[in-house]
Amino acid sequence: MSQNLDWANLGFGYHETEYRYVTNYKDGKWDEGGLITDANVVLNECAGVLQYAQTVFEGLKAYYTKDGHIVCFRPDLNAERLNNSAERLIMPKLPEGRFVEAIKAVVKANKDMVPPYGTGASLYIRPYMMGTNPVIGVKPADEYQFRVFCTPVGPYFKGGAKPIRIKISDYDRAAPHGTGDIKAGLNYAMSLHAIEEAHEQGFAENMFLDPATRTKVEETGGANFIFITKDNKLVTPKSNSILPSITRRSLMYVAEHYLGMQVEHREVLFSELKDFAEAGLCGTAAVVSPVGSIHTKDGDINFPAGMEEMGPTTKKLYDTLLGIQHGEIEAPEGWVVRI
Ligand code: PLP
Ligand code: COI
Repeated sequence: MSQNLDWANLGFGYHETEYRYVTNYKDGKWDEGGLITDANVVLNECAGVLQYAQTVFEGLKAYYTKDGHIVCFRPDLNAERLNNSAERLIMPKLPEGRFVEAIKAVVKANKDMVPPYGTGASLYIRPYMMGTNPVIGVKPADEYQFRVFCTPVGPYFKGGAKPIRIKISDYDRAAPHGTGDIKAGLNYAMSLHAIEEAHEQGFAENMFLDPATRTKVEETGGANFIFITKDNKLVTPKSNSILPSITRRSLMYVAEHYLGMQVEHREVLFSELKDFAEAGLCGTAAVVSPVGSIHTKDGDINFPAGMEEMGPTTKKLYDTLLGIQHGEIEAPEGWVVRI
């Protein structure tokens, strides 16, 4: 199925690939599971996922290293986060080993869909779990499916590494003590109205503020924030209603241990934004995407790094992380996993 894909010009979209992995949970245990070719899921009309959105997911990428190996990045952390999400929505856990084996099996089976090194594209992997048996009273399902499919993708934002314009959302993404810190489909349904509105107004994304006070920076609909201070520190928001991004955790390590930067993981006030030198988004899909300006009801905050290219420190972080991921810079133990 890889025929005719123009790797260098792929957007972030769904291309059906040949194989996916499926395992089902029933009577308190996961079945053996395996690869299948049917991309469609047939469910009862009353399945828990369809009625009460009982579904959680992950996202990671497989890609070629410079020396020709197919790898993925820190899949153990995706396995751990999937289980944290599942626990919050009363779903069963999947052993980490099984998660990683499923990822490897899907990538191996769809090997010809892993974009060549240097094209900027990668194979995006989407593991997810959903409640499958009929549920009409509000309660958790008893039966679940865990599925992994993959699709080749290019950059999440048009224009790749060009800075984006974002706006402060008029809506909240997560509630205090809610589900903002897990990767559940319901959080993304919540963000659809805001993202459509932002796009209509010419912005690439939303900055969500903390739902309780609207004075602190949280995240976007699909990525965490990083900021660079004028004295070159990395500052990144800490909140229990944002998703603990694996990319952000990795960048914090890279900043401190590879670039010798000071790192502050703390509450970030909205009122501080105007003082930062650089701003960016980070995530599996977003990688590191520079933010050039933030639209607020009191006018725009424009970062000194500008709208033309990634700020110098953001670029260093980006280059180092990508170098580690692609085997050009030595990775910390266990970060880059061969498939
Ligand atoms: N925040 C949200 C809401 C996301 O959906 C994602 C994507 O997974 C991220 C942050 C970035 O997380 P990660 O770096 O683990 O992909
Ligand atoms: C990811 O970065 O993997 C995400 O899940 C973000 C978005 C595509 C939902």
